[in-house]
Amino acid sequence: MGTTDNTGRRIVLITGASRGIGAETARILAEGGDHVVINYREKRKRADDLAGRIAAAGGCASVAGADIAEPGAARTLIDRVVAEFGGLDVLVLNASGGLERDAAPGYAMAINRDAQRRLVRTALPFMRSGGRVVFVTSHQAHFHGRKPVPADYEPIAASKRAGEDELRAMIPELGTRGVDLRVVSGDMIDGTIIVRLLERRNPDAVSARKEHGELPTVAEFAAAVAAATRCVAESGHTVYVGGPDYLALSAT
Ligand SMILES: NC(=O)c1ccc[n+]([C@@H]2O[C@H](COP(=O)([O-])OP(=O)(O)OC[C@H]3O[C@@H](n4cnc5c(N)ncnc54)[C@H](OP(=O)(O)O)[C@@H]3O)[C@@H](O)[C@H]2O)c1
Repeated sequence: MGTTDNTGRRIVLITGASRGIGAETARILAEGGDHVVINYREKRKRADDLAGRIAAAGGCASVAGADIAEPGAARTLIDRVVAEFGGLDVLVLNASGGLERDAAPGYAMAINRDAQRRLVRTALPFMRSGGRVVFVTSHQAHFHGRKPVPADYEPIAASKRAGEDELRAMIPELGTRGVDLRVVSGDMIDGTIIVRLLERRNPDAVSARKEHGELPTVAEFAAAVAAATRCVAESGHTVYVGGPDYLALSAT
């Protein structure tokens, strides 16, 4: 299926791209010549502003609001991309949740596991051969069960690990359509809202991480996510950013 837009650009849908790592990933990919679809949940203005900045810099972007935890909204999101572009080249699974104060019990699994699987299942029939799914996760989730996790982050870590496991189980199914999976796992990322929230609730956990060295920046992590949309490796390959102590674990 030809899924590039009429200028030959790759069509890249990034979930949760109105701010933080997703927004910076969108900016980098658009700068590299992709058409990015910036998904957001509620911050429309922020997403529009980002699309405007990308266009002003000569890039191509669209915005698409959808709460990916809502099954109907996820379907509508994919339908919209397909209607506009004929399909999809890259799906970056960046949106995540569960740390919000008002998160309902079960929300972490709903967004970090169920929504990820559903979005891939919904998008897969419209992804072109050579396409890619990139799952964005944290070391604390990726290495869940092998290292202690701050209490407040435990449900998020467990659910993101469960999401990663479900996506890995889909590798053969993705492969039948010529679509690869990449996982990008990062240490705590300096200056992000998630780290600021954790710092407020578990200050020792954040300072303990900083003892292992400087935390990676949003720019560094987003650059790795963007690069993972192109890097040549086996399906399921994991890219690690920061956290030398975790990297020692990954070698065991
Ligand atoms: N921050 C870190 O230290 C860190 C470290 C390692 C890995 N990561 C991973 O990097 C990714 C991005 O993290 P971040 O810190 O940049 O996140 P963030 O600042 O909390 O950004 C969240 C983004 O996700 C969107 N979003 C939230 N719930 C959504 C939903 N149900 N449906 C659609 N969009 C939704 C938000 O949209 P609205 O603004 O419109 O609500 C926003 O654009 C996550 O997968 C995270 O696990 C983060």
